[in-house]
Amino acid sequence: MPKKKVLVTGGAGFIGGNFVQYMIHKYPQYDIYNLDSLTYAGDLTKHREIETKKNYHFIKADIADREQIIPLFVQEKFDYVVHFAAESHVDRSITDPEVFIRTNVLGTQVLLDASKHIGVTKFVHVSTDEVYGELDFDPTTFFTEETPIQPNSPYSASKASSDLLVRAYHETYELPVNITRCSNNYGPYHFPEKLIPLTISRILNDQKVPVYGDGKNIRDWLHVIDHCTAIDLVMHEGINGEVYNVGGHNEQTNLEVVKTIIRALGKSDDLIEFVKDRLGHDKRYAIDPTKLEKLGWKPTYTFETGIDQTIQWYLDNKEWWEHIISGEYQSYFEKQYSI
Ligand code: NAD
Ligand code: DAU
Repeated sequence: MPKKKVLVTGGAGFIGGNFVQYMIHKYPQYDIYNLDSLTYAGDLTKHREIETKKNYHFIKADIADREQIIPLFVQEKFDYVVHFAAESHVDRSITDPEVFIRTNVLGTQVLLDASKHIGVTKFVHVSTDEVYGELDFDPTTFFTEETPIQPNSPYSASKASSDLLVRAYHETYELPVNITRCSNNYGPYHFPEKLIPLTISRILNDQKVPVYGDGKNIRDWLHVIDHCTAIDLVMHEGINGEVYNVGGHNEQTNLEVVKTIIRALGKSDDLIEFVKDRLGHDKRYAIDPTKLEKLGWKPTYTFETGIDQTIQWYLDNKEWWEHIISGEYQSYFEKQYSI
C-alpha cells in the first residue's frame, strides 16, 4: 500500500513544528511534508533530529503563491492537509494588518483550491478561540462551537475569515474539512514574542517583564503536545464539516502566569513592569472542550505540570532562544515596548 502523504503547513513554526515531530515519531508509515515560507517565525534548527529521517520532507513555499501551490499539489497528491501556516501574533497585527490578510485569508483560500483540485481525504484548518471574541470575567461562561464569531483584532478577524472560507468549501464543494479552535498554547519552541517564552527568557536575563494594563486579562493555557493529540484525533476521526474547540480548563490571569514563572526561577516580583495596554485587549478566553472529549480527547498536562516542563525546556535549550532573540527580534522588541 502506498504511504499516506500528510502536508503540514507552517511546520517550521511553534505548533506546526511540534506537530511535525509528533507525527514523524507516531506514524512512521506516513510521509510528512513540512511546507513553510520561513518568515521571522519559522526556524528549521528545531528539526535537526528528524531532518535525516526518510519520512520527513521540507518544502520552502509561500501558501499564498498560487503558481507554486497548485502544481505542487498536482505533483504530490497529498492525502491530508493540516494547515497551521499563519501570521499568528496579535500585537504585530495591530501595527501591520496587511500581511495577516494575505497569509491567513488568501493563503488559506489557495490551499483550499489546491485541496479541492486533487481531492484530499481531509483538510484540517487550525484556528483559534480568538475568533469568538472575548468573554467577561464570569467563570461559568465558556466558548462553545455554537458561540457567534466576533473577532476583535486584525489577527482574529483574518482567522475568522479563513474559518468561513473553510466552511464554505465544505458546504459548496463538499470538501472534507474540520476546523479546530484552540486556546493559548505553550511549550517547547514557543517564539519568545509571546507572553510565556518572553517572560521566561527575560527573567533568565534579569530583564523587566512587560505586563499589559493591570495584568488581569485571562487566558486558557494548553500544552502544545495536548494540542497535537487533539489535531491527530480530529484528522483521523473528526466528522467532516465539524468544528472542534480545543482547551484544557487552565485559566490564569497574565499576572498569575508571570508570577508563577518568577517564583519557579527564584526571582523577584520587582521584575514586573506594567506597561500601556494592548489596543482592543480581549478580557478573557475560556474553552468548553466537551465536543472533542466526546470524540475521545483528553489533555495530559495541567498548567502546573506543563509550565514546569516548559521552564525546564527553556533552561535546557538556551542556545535555541538566545539565537532567536538576537537580530530582527531586537528591533521588534524596541519598537513594541519602551522598557
Ligand atoms: P507561528 O507564528 O509560531 O508559526 C507560523 C509558521 O507559519 C512559521 O513557521 C511561518 O514561517 C509560517 N508561515 C507564515 N506565513 C507563511 C506563508 N505565507 N507561507 C508559508 N508559511 C508561512 O505560529 P503558531 O503559534 O505555531 O500557530 C500556528 C497556527 O495555530 C496558526 O494558524 C495560529 O493561528 C493557530 N493557533 C495558535 C495558537 C497559539 O497559542 N500559538 C493557539 C490557537 C491557534
Ligand atoms: O487564544 C489563542 C491565541 O493565543 C492564538 O490564536 C494566537 O496566535 C496566540 O499568539 C495567542 O494570542 P494572545 O494574544 O492571547 O497571546 P500573547 O502571548 O501575545 O498574549 C497573552 C496575554 O498576555 C494577552 O492577554 C496579552 C498579554 N501580554 C502579552 C505580551 C506579549 C502581556 O501582558 N505582555 C506581553 O508582553
